[in-house]
Amino acid sequence: MSEPLLSVRGIHTYYGDSYVLQGVSLELQEGRIVAILGRNGMGKTTLIRSVAGLTPPREGEVLFKGRSLRGLPPYAIAQLGMANVPQGRRIFGSLTVRENLLLPTSALAGGRPAQAREGRKRWDLDAVLQEFPQLAERIAHSGGALSGGEQQMLAVGRALMANPDLILMDEPSEGLAPRLVQQVEAIMKSLRAHGHAILLVEQNFALAVSVADSIHVLSSGRFVFQGTPAELARDSEILDHHLGVAGSQTA
Ligand SMILES: Nc1ncnc2c1ncn2[C@@H]1O[C@H](COP(=O)(O)OP(=O)(O)O)[C@@H](O)[C@H]1O
Ligand SMILES: [Mg+2]
Repeated sequence: MSEPLLSVRGIHTYYGDSYVLQGVSLELQEGRIVAILGRNGMGKTTLIRSVAGLTPPREGEVLFKGRSLRGLPPYAIAQLGMANVPQGRRIFGSLTVRENLLLPTSALAGGRPAQAREGRKRWDLDAVLQEFPQLAERIAHSGGALSGGEQQMLAVGRALMANPDLILMDEPSEGLAPRLVQQVEAIMKSLRAHGHAILLVEQNFALAVSVADSIHVLSSGRFVFQGTPAELARDSEILDHHLGVAGSQTA
């Protein structure tokens, strides 16, 4: 197998004295989707923050494209080809859809011309609007006027504008109606088909199982399971004790 796109090696992450990630390791290959499942407060967002450089690990190391991210600020990590779709979407409600989409390529963001990896689709405003026709219809609306599902599309579209190799997605299905969760699922499958790798954090078991190549289950800052979706679906112990999903007899 080739060198992983992302390699998380034994990281320990704290908020002050609060010890959250307690030795977490994972690898993500180019073009794959790895999902992190776990209940509230288990450290999923902290893992995303550790990878993106927002809350750097105190011990251990994150490598992206073979390069250590130690000491790099979030913007420098983003420029290496990593985009973040944060929990709660964080779109700018007072900016229009167009302005939100153009932010990653604006002068403020460094004005870096977004380069797509050779052989992969190059995303620009037209390509994103083609992928998300609903956004095209609302291009002049303010971000705050969009529905939750549309805001999620906008957050993904904004990430794509940077032509990232790796997209971090933190609970993209949170707060969405089932029909919109299906739309998020379709979006992720399309991104994978376009060659983007995704590190997906979810509480939605069905969504993670449907899209991921491999799944890790996080519990109190440690992985208690890693394997394929099929292996997870058979592991009633993990399902019962760490996820509490259907199929469990004791929850
Ligand atoms: N900024 C912060 N300062 C202190 N503790 C935090 C902060 N953010 C999260 N935590 C704590 O870290 C733990 C993991 O949180 P988080 O990574 O957000 O979990 P998840 O995303 O799995 O719900 C929780 O106990 C949470 O209270
Ligand atoms: Mg979270």
